[in-house]
Amino acid sequence: MQILEVMLQAGVNGMPQGRFDLGAPVGIALTFGDSAPDGHKPLLVAASRGLDRTDAQRTVAGKSGIIKHTIESGDPVPFTKVSNDADLSQFSSLRRAHNGVCYPLQSGLDVYGAVILASPSSQKPSEQHLRLMRAFINQAAIAFQNAQLYQNLRAERDRIIEAEASARAKLARDLHDGPTQSMAALAMRLDFIRLLMDRDQAQARQELEQAREAVMRVGKDLRGLLFTLRPLTLETQGLSAALKQYEQRLRENDGVPIEIQPGNFGSELDPNIAGTVFAVIEEAVNNARKHARNAAIHVNVQQQSGTLLAVVADEGPGFDTNAVNANYTSRGSLGMVNMRDRARLVDGQLNIESTPGHGTRVTLRVPLKNRPSGAAQTPRP
Ligand SMILES: Nc1ncnc2c1ncn2[C@@H]1O[C@H](COP(=O)(O)OP(=O)(O)OP(=O)(O)O)[C@@H](O)[C@H]1O
Ligand SMILES: [Mg+2]
Repeated sequence: MQILEVMLQAGVNGMPQGRFDLGAPVGIALTFGDSAPDGHKPLLVAASRGLDRTDAQRTVAGKSGIIKHTIESGDPVPFTKVSNDADLSQFSSLRRAHNGVCYPLQSGLDVYGAVILASPSSQKPSEQHLRLMRAFINQAAIAFQNAQLYQNLRAERDRIIEAEASARAKLARDLHDGPTQSMAALAMRLDFIRLLMDRDQAQARQELEQAREAVMRVGKDLRGLLFTLRPLTLETQGLSAALKQYEQRLRENDGVPIEIQPGNFGSELDPNIAGTVFAVIEEAVNNARKHARNAAIHVNVQQQSGTLLAVVADEGPGFDTNAVNANYTSRGSLGMVNMRDRARLVDGQLNIESTPGHGTRVTLRVPLKNRPSGAAQTPRP
C-alpha cells in the first residue's frame, strides 16, 4: 500500500542519522498474514525502508517481546537494543539499532500490525517527530481499515454472485435431467401412438393414458423447480404460509419425513428477512435430505423477544463440524457458505451443531428491528 511507503519514508527521514559506517535508519511496516493451522496470525513485512532483501521477506510470530507488548498495550514502545527480542533480532538491519520505537498499526479496536522505526544513532528521535509519526501511523491504519472493508465487501459480493450462478447452473441441470428428457421421451411415445391408432386402438388408448400420466409428472417436476426458483406464496402470504406449503410439497411429492412448525409470520415481515430465512431453511433441509437420508427432519420457526429463531434439526448420522470446516475451501461445496452469507446479509447469526451419531441442528437467529415502513420513506405523489 502506497500510504505505508510514504509513512515509512517520512518516519526514516525524521530519525537521527547514525554514523555513516553503521548504516541508515530503518523503517518496517508489519501486517498480519493469514492464520496458521493453530489459529495464530504471523506478521509479514508489508513495506520497508533501509532493509536488505532477506530481511524484507521475513515473517515473525509476534507472540512475545516488543511487538506483542506494543499490540497488546496499543501504545508506542521505545527500545534501545533488540538482541533479547525473538522477533526483532531476526532483522539483521535492526541489530545495529541503538534507538527505536515500535508503534501499533491500529484503528479503533482493529489492529492490523505494527510499525518499527529504528536508527543506529545513539541520539534519541525528537518528541515532535515521535508525535508526528504517531498521527501519521494512525492515518495509515484508517486507510488500511478502509481498504480492508472495501476488500471484504467485494469478496462478499463475489460470493453472492457465485452462489447465484451456481443456483442457476443447478436449475439448468435439473431442467435438463428432468423435464427436458421426459418431454423428448413423450414425443417419441406420441409418435408410437399415432402408428398404433390404425393397428390397435385398445393399445393406443392404453398408451395414451400412460402418456397423460407422464405429462402430469412433468408438470409436477416443473412446479417443484419453479418453487425453488421463487416461492410465490412467500411474497403474497409471507414466510409461515410458504413454509407450510413447502412441508406439504416435500411430504406428498417426495415422501420426506419432515415436520415444520412455521410460526406466525405473515406479509408484514421484511421480505428480505423472509426470503433469507426461507433460503437458509431450504439449504439446511437439503443437507439433511442429502446427508441424513430418510431421517426425520424437524423445523421450528418462532419469535423470541425481538428475534426470529429458526431451527432445522435432523435425526441423521451427524458429522464432525471441525473436520468439515478445516478442509472446507478444498471441498468445492457451497451449502454452508451460502447459509452463512445469507444470514449475514440480514445481520443474522448461524450456528451449526453436530456430533457424529447424534444428528445435526442448524440454528438461525435474525434480529427483528422495527424498521420504518417503506411507504413512510417513499412518499407517494
Ligand atoms: N445434516 C447433515 N447431516 C450430516 N452431514 C452433514 C449435514 N449437513 C452437512 N453435512 C456435512 O457437511 C458437509 C458440507 O455441507 P455443504 O452443504 O457445505 O456441502 P454439500 O452438501 O456436500 O454440497 P452442496 O451443498 O454444495 O451441494 C457435507 O458434505 C456433509 O459431509
Ligand atoms: Mg449441502
